[in-house]
Amino acid sequence: MSFTVHDQAPARLNRSEQAVPGSNARFIEKAAQGNADVVFLDLEDAVAPDEKENARKNIIAALNDLDWSGKTVSLRINGLDTHYMYRDLVEVLEGAPGKLDLVMVPKVGTAADIYTVDCLITQIEAATKAPKRIGLEAIIETALGMANIDAIAAASPRMESLHFGVADYAASTKAATTGIGGPNPAYGVLTDPAEDGHRDYHWGDMWHYAIARMVVAARAHGLRPLDGPFGDIQDAEGYKAQARRARVLGCEGKWAIHPSQTDLANDLFTPSEAEVAKAKAILDAMDEAKKAGRGAVTLDGRLIDIASIKQAEVMVHKAAQIAG
Ligand code: GLV
Ligand code: MG
Repeated sequence: MSFTVHDQAPARLNRSEQAVPGSNARFIEKAAQGNADVVFLDLEDAVAPDEKENARKNIIAALNDLDWSGKTVSLRINGLDTHYMYRDLVEVLEGAPGKLDLVMVPKVGTAADIYTVDCLITQIEAATKAPKRIGLEAIIETALGMANIDAIAAASPRMESLHFGVADYAASTKAATTGIGGPNPAYGVLTDPAEDGHRDYHWGDMWHYAIARMVVAARAHGLRPLDGPFGDIQDAEGYKAQARRARVLGCEGKWAIHPSQTDLANDLFTPSEAEVAKAKAILDAMDEAKKAGRGAVTLDGRLIDIASIKQAEVMVHKAAQIAG
């Protein structure tokens, strides 16, 4: 263990993060009654330029009037390269002081972007005597943001999570794809011919590097890594496969850009009974090993050692957090 120890972000449940356009008051009301762990009220890309002002008003009303208990509520502001961003913060934070848990910053390119937002929030919180300190979520969705990801993760003690914004990231890296998340048939490997000449084509995961890189940066700085949107809202199986890959790599949860994806995410990012039972068997076996003065033992024919305790604890702690 290094002497460099980063504080862990507050332990919020973040299996699902539901996106709701601020321009649609009815969708916001439904989200407040829904099952998402985190709801982000969007002022950015799901809201047309002419709707921005109206969306701010809807969001202020929803924060003040609706019951958000049991949920974490976030606000996705517009990017720092727009003229909307400062008003998003000033109007919503002044109009509903102490109501937001998080602010989500899109298209973060440098640590200074986070500094800027932190500075504004700090001033508004002081001026409004806000009873709650807002945390920050950063969407990594540009080549610049990915290049600066470690500095962004470390940019402020308010930072809580990093999110992979696959659509903007694809655009920024000029990837030859127009889907939002999921695999692309052109990203595959053709095997060499077998003796009978047969060749297999295996689809690959074109997002592997980006998600794995984000998980490393997030975990190194005590933040939650989150997988972003999956655009094909009819394709529950595709969503589930993408979410499983993200979870296996270390993500805490995934966005739901349609309410039907919220329960899928909650379910997929909850350890199964079998996973928890296996993790507990590892802890029991290592307990016995410790009593016998051994550092490693075999369980079901496989070697386990002290690192296995830490792996098993991840599973058991997550299950306990969800159970409340
Ligand atoms: C999310 O904001 C994305 O661009 O995918
Ligand atoms: Mg985006």
